[in-house]
Amino acid sequence: MTASIIDGNALSALLRQQVTDQVKALQARGVNPGLAVILVGDNPASQVYVRNKVKACEQTGIHSLLEKHDAAMTEAELLARVHALNQDKQIHGILVQLPLPAHINAEKVIEAIAPEKDVDGFHVASAGALMTGLPGYWPCTPHGCMKMLEHIGYSLRGKHAVVIGRSNIVGKPMALMLLQAHATVTICHSATPDLKAHTLQADVIVAAVGKRNVLTADMVKPGAVVIDVGMNRDDEGKLCGDVDYEGVKQVASYITPVPGGVGPMTITMLLVNTLASAEQHAAS
Ligand code: GUN
Repeated sequence: MTASIIDGNALSALLRQQVTDQVKALQARGVNPGLAVILVGDNPASQVYVRNKVKACEQTGIHSLLEKHDAAMTEAELLARVHALNQDKQIHGILVQLPLPAHINAEKVIEAIAPEKDVDGFHVASAGALMTGLPGYWPCTPHGCMKMLEHIGYSLRGKHAVVIGRSNIVGKPMALMLLQAHATVTICHSATPDLKAHTLQADVIVAAVGKRNVLTADMVKPGAVVIDVGMNRDDEGKLCGDVDYEGVKQVASYITPVPGGVGPMTITMLLVNTLASAEQHAAS
């Protein structure tokens, strides 16, 4: 079997067109969706991420406010900016790019964001809402993975999903979303003794570790769906995921590539969340 590829670029283009149309409809009602993006310091990867987020906003008509601050910015100064943006009626989403410089407590900053503007879905209120099934913003990367499964018409009910990785940003929320969709969920991580014993049972595998070749063909049940959240570099410096793509492609029924898989979906879901926040604002 050779897996079908779930094209994150194509699905993103489709969803971003829908966002563009909905932004126009909202603007016609007098609400201009706005996202504030805060970058502190000059982490090169963060600069690229932030640039791509702002560009995606521009493409869909979402107003973006990019704040670049010096690495020496104090925690108090950053908290003051977040508080001001919480009050700003033009801004419906606030994103503080992580990682923050070591002298700033990232948790404190995230918890300062008003939950109704937490389009990253990182606030404890957002995490609690996801856990209990209440309305709230879902973290963009796992939300994007769910959209990919939805797009291929995959029903998770009664299926066994294995998530590799337990981060607050991907692994844990991913598991909760799969659970909410009625899958039986196993979370594996660095202390799992026999990863292969678990993955061989799985109908769906989500790899979100940040390490190359965590999942190889011998670890995958024929016909499984494989979602690769990893973003690594191989020996030649080429982008690659956590999955041995060439090998696993021969066994899986569906697979996401890297690049061009989950990556573009993350930014797309940020746009979706920002639009939803602006729509909520318009309705209130
Ligand atoms: N750093 C890496 N990924 C992300 C993300 O999705 N959101 C934020 N705020 N920072 C990040």
